[in-house]
Amino acid sequence: MKRKQRTPTFSLPNSADKKYYVQHMFDTIAPRYQIMNTIITFGLDRYWRKKALSKLVIPENSLILDLASGPGELADLLGSRGHRMISLDISREMLLANRRNKTPKVQADCELLPFPEETFDTLVSAFGMRNFPDLSRAFAEVSRVVKPGGSVFFMDISQPRAVVFRSIHKFYFNNIVPLLGAVLSSKSAYKYLPESIAYLPSQYEIIKLLEQHNIENVSHTSYTFDTVQAFIGVRSRKHL
Ligand SMILES: C[S@@+](CC[C@H](N)C(=O)[O-])C[C@H]1O[C@@H](n2cnc3c(N)ncnc32)[C@H](O)[C@@H]1O
Repeated sequence: MKRKQRTPTFSLPNSADKKYYVQHMFDTIAPRYQIMNTIITFGLDRYWRKKALSKLVIPENSLILDLASGPGELADLLGSRGHRMISLDISREMLLANRRNKTPKVQADCELLPFPEETFDTLVSAFGMRNFPDLSRAFAEVSRVVKPGGSVFFMDISQPRAVVFRSIHKFYFNNIVPLLGAVLSSKSAYKYLPESIAYLPSQYEIIKLLEQHNIENVSHTSYTFDTVQAFIGVRSRKHL
């Protein structure tokens, strides 16, 4: 059955406040970020990254930007396959959280990427999107720095569509995760998590927005009862 497409309504907050709040929050939770991820996803986060990336076709020895890289899990995975990686994140502490990761690191904002046009063969980003204050600005920058014909990969958390799973998911993120955060890391940071999930537009709105920024042939895949989603598209060959 064809799903009815909703008209996009982008009432996304576009405030410098959100940017600095998010940066500070990730700086604070950075030392325990990876272990918290493992705990709250029951170790599934690594599986999701691998599984979603397996759908991405990347030419050998590509130059790839890991946008909102955090400690660089995607950079690790793709770097081990011989690609040339650059990690970029707004939070210095997140970039430095994994000392073993030797990928070149750049501290910058996704809305102002410090690279010339058409620099990268591919751009990947995991679990960053919902933190960006203005998805449109971020996608405009993505489109600018990726070469025509290059692939663009985004993945993030999503909300299950089935009512029962949606309720369980909501209860888990609103109640259990902040509790785990309070004990093991930071309560306020892990209270922010459900808010950030709710902030993300629907898959149709995200696809539409990517297309508006010259990212074509966008596919969408859901994993584990729709709790995680991935988008793969191709930077149009049109020059901007
Ligand atoms: C949930 S973490 C994801 C980290 C990593 N990619 C992963 O797969 O675990 C989100 C990351 O997005 C970064 N981030 C948030 N807003 C950003 C922005 N405006 N520009 C660049 N990075 C940003 C945060 O600092 C954080 O490291």
